[in-house]
Amino acid sequence: MQKLGTTSGFLAGLFLMTIAVKVLAHGDVTPHAVDTSSLKPIGTEWAETNPYRGDAKAATVGALGYLQNCAGCHGLNAESGGVASDLLKYGKECLEMGSKSLQDACMKEGDGYFKDITLNGKKNSDGRYTMPAYGAVFTQEAVWAVKAYIDARTIEDMAKSRK
Ligand code: HEC
Repeated sequence: MQKLGTTSGFLAGLFLMTIAVKVLAHGDVTPHAVDTSSLKPIGTEWAETNPYRGDAKAATVGALGYLQNCAGCHGLNAESGGVASDLLKYGKECLEMGSKSLQDACMKEGDGYFKDITLNGKKNSDGRYTMPAYGAVFTQEAVWAVKAYIDARTIEDMAKSRK
């Protein structure tokens, strides 16, 4: 069970978001809960890898969660405008690996990294949040649905660039 990103992270996140709204002028970046009631529940024990990998319905639910929570900084459709990191790059690196087992291992590692950052946010070297923590509002289902969306976008983008 992971229970990080609670009060202090949340308050720091709120503080950051005030700045983010002013700096980015992208509107509201308060963490929004994601309605995952249409998806299969995962439970409270954190999965090591995304249980919704390849689940199109989860990706659709995650798309809305992404739009409401992440797009303001990471770009509409996860196309980074350079404000915050490109979220498709890790998955692309994984999926370019030579074998299915290497790809799977890489994706699993990417899932863990994604989960940790989403729950805990990111701080710069001064200890200030550059990305809010979502641990107080995101369920496990929400985290993996958003990741399923990002993975779906990664695959879509890779297919497009091969044309
Ligand atoms: C207020 C702006 C902001 C919002 C909103 C935001 N992020 Fe971020 N995110 C950042 C910044 C800035 C970084 C890079 C921080 C750094 O490297 O120090 C980052 C980094 C990340 C990383 C690590 C990427 C890498 O290249 O290592 C992941 C994963 C991530 N964000 C996921 C998300 C998800 C998922 C959401 C929505 C639930 C989200 N972020 C919402 C600003 C934001």
